[in-house]
Amino acid sequence: MNLDKLLKTAHCTETQDQVLSITPKTQEQVDILKTVSTQYETALWQPVSPHYIKEDTQVHLFVPANSSETVKDLLQRHAITHEVLLANPNELIEMQTRNDSTDPRSSSTFYERYHSLEDIYFWINRTKQDNPDTVKVILIGSSFEKRPLYVLKLSLNNRPNKKAMWIDCGIHAREWISPAFCLWFVQYSLSFYQSNKDIANILDNMDVYVLPVLNPDGYHYTWTTNRMWRKNRSTNMSTKCIGVDLNRNFDANWCTEGASDQPCTEIYCGAFPESEPETLAVADFLRSHKHIVQIYFSIHSYSQMLLFPFSCTLEEAENHSELLEMVQEAAQKIQRHYRNIYKYGSGAKTIYLAPGGSDDWAYNLGIKYSFTFELQDRGSYGFLLPPSHISKACNEALLAVKTIALKVVEKT
Ligand code: ARG
Ligand code: ZN
Repeated sequence: MNLDKLLKTAHCTETQDQVLSITPKTQEQVDILKTVSTQYETALWQPVSPHYIKEDTQVHLFVPANSSETVKDLLQRHAITHEVLLANPNELIEMQTRNDSTDPRSSSTFYERYHSLEDIYFWINRTKQDNPDTVKVILIGSSFEKRPLYVLKLSLNNRPNKKAMWIDCGIHAREWISPAFCLWFVQYSLSFYQSNKDIANILDNMDVYVLPVLNPDGYHYTWTTNRMWRKNRSTNMSTKCIGVDLNRNFDANWCTEGASDQPCTEIYCGAFPESEPETLAVADFLRSHKHIVQIYFSIHSYSQMLLFPFSCTLEEAENHSELLEMVQEAAQKIQRHYRNIYKYGSGAKTIYLAPGGSDDWAYNLGIKYSFTFELQDRGSYGFLLPPSHISKACNEALLAVKTIALKVVEKT
């Protein structure tokens, strides 16, 4: 290798973006990590906010090339050891955005790839056109940047007085496996209604409302500008920081412990409950359909968890044991079929207090079967789950949705 090339390679390895895994051992190390993740240009993957960093618990931190040296120096000076979780996030990002064909359904692997917002809009339209008798598209509102919020209504037969199930995906922009799941679910339902008795049983008894991208502005932003973006893209006169955490903006113990009133944080609750057009659109739609919607699902990643209310308080939901039984059965099935471990339980006790979430709000509205799923993985790739993992991640989540929906159908 000539010197030029050698220098280039050395330079490259030094200045790449990386994701680090760091486990602080003392309170001092905890404090340093909190400072690092707030003062330097980094993106905290886990936990969601520096507030939750604690001793002996893994922190996953995305460190861009330009702050890499400073951050590593600082860690070294305080004898904080780190592992490199991902040495090549840029390659992974490139892999995920490559080959996004302009004809969404030209290839059989369409559902095993990630898709730009434009392609998802195109897919919505095509799905409706190809299934005129069973799929309707409902415009429920628009985003802060005026992008349409489309819900697909799957109605596979004409039985009167059907109940309904709601699934939303992509409330957090960087969780790309989530919109991929919504597309997967729709495709599966339409393809296997005739041949799979479980999905037929579910769809004979309920319609399904699917919102593939709840946060289109954020999702678009992760494709064009910053892959690590979480919030929506709303601006506010009083601050230069952009975005509200839409899963802290619902009216459920809004902006109490576990959310922040600071616009620059990742868990900013917004100016008031439902201040964001995306939140308001979903809340309005569910309010006007609350007598038919029996089940609510919100799809996130990552960490592999099946959660139910409450997240906004440590109190138990009135039907806690019923909900626990459902997610337990779903988790057991996933383990049996896919050999993957999912934790389950109420949100507050399984992860942390997180008020203002859509699941708790829907529950309080009267939708007694309300769930938040955290899909794959448990941190190996985090938000950068490679396309080759989409199929398994979606199938196991689908198994959980089916298990729970069937149990609800049986009850009624
Ligand atoms: N990781 C999700 C979040 O931080 C967890 C959601 C659980 N439910 C909730 N209502 N907070 O938003
Ligand atoms: Zn999320």
